[in-house]
Amino acid sequence: MFEPDEVLLLGPGPSPVSPRVRRAQAQPLLGHLDSEFVPLLDRVQSGLRRLFGTTNRLTLPLAGTGSSGMEAVVANLVEPGDRVVVGVNGVFGMRFADSVRRAGGEAVVVEAPFGCALDPDALRTAIAGGPTRLLAVVHAETSTGVLTDLRPVAAMARDAGALFAVDCVTSIGGVPLACDELGVDAAFCGTQKCLSVPPGLAPVTFSERALERVAARRHPVPFYFDTRLLTGYFGRERSYHYTAPVSMIYALAASLDEIDEEGHEARFARHREAAAALRCGLGPLGLEPLVAEEHAAPMLTTVRYPDGIDDVAFRRYLRRHHLIEVGGGLGPLAGSVFRVGLMGHGARLPNVLRALAAFGDALRACGAAPDVAAALAAVHAG
Ligand SMILES: Cc1ncc(COP(=O)(O)O)c(C=O)c1O
Repeated sequence: MFEPDEVLLLGPGPSPVSPRVRRAQAQPLLGHLDSEFVPLLDRVQSGLRRLFGTTNRLTLPLAGTGSSGMEAVVANLVEPGDRVVVGVNGVFGMRFADSVRRAGGEAVVVEAPFGCALDPDALRTAIAGGPTRLLAVVHAETSTGVLTDLRPVAAMARDAGALFAVDCVTSIGGVPLACDELGVDAAFCGTQKCLSVPPGLAPVTFSERALERVAARRHPVPFYFDTRLLTGYFGRERSYHYTAPVSMIYALAASLDEIDEEGHEARFARHREAAAALRCGLGPLGLEPLVAEEHAAPMLTTVRYPDGIDDVAFRRYLRRHHLIEVGGGLGPLAGSVFRVGLMGHGARLPNVLRALAAFGDALRACGAAPDVAAALAAVHAG
């Protein structure tokens, strides 16, 4: 039997899974149309609505990872020739634009440097440049750790009569979402970040406005992602569309129960506090965060290496000697940064202290002279 190490997952995902979620996943299998299972699915859909901040009836845990949520949103809302403005300040914004192009849309990319916030004026200019069907942004860009302020972007979409789609893969469960209040028409996420469920589901939500747009399409949507067919199973009828991944839905249900028991505000505060503690401890180790505090996503901190530290050697040392996983840099940041996820079940002070001590040891092994005692003292001093 495969018995892996108990690794502390402090990378960009997957995040640590609680014992309760693990146990839930191992419960006896039921049929996906079983009368005992269907009420659990109802509960999961309600819990997802609360986290997305929506009353959208079509809110469901799609099978597949976060990218399948992105594909589902694009497949339903983009038709060949549609003009889509995409805010890109990292790898996942690039993926969003790529997905639009693959659906035959025209992706008008508004770029900001990796590590910086999107420029609202540049977005406004791009939207004004032609009839815009959809505006798409990533809420928490996991390749950099930048959190986009959705409110002004949502207003731009509304003023232009465009639909607004948001990638919430990393943000959901770690910061508040208010899809209805802002006017978000479609949002998707993954389970493996701040929901602390293994990868394998992509919760998505579509507004009535988005569904009207789908009803008016000239081209069919690929079978698997077609919201009209998904409504059959995830709506009142509960008719077969595809075989739902039952055990994953058990796990998600357990996580949503934990989230409700903790309280959303308490959970968001826990993420903020863990991120702040991590930031306090970086300086004495000779490390610095890439993203300015006012734009930083609490669940993912990208950290610059001091000169001369080998990224692969550093991360290999952490995994081997401390059983800690962190992520490497992506795109232009590869080799110059590492990414620390304090997500969901993992966003806790003891993990921050363990991580900082381990970072110090790994930096020392790589030839630097970090002050671990000062780093831990800085955390305690707040
Ligand atoms: C912001 C964001 N969007 C999309 C994805 C893609 O999700 P997945 O890898 O689960 O397909 C990720 C994954 O890390 C992500 O962080």
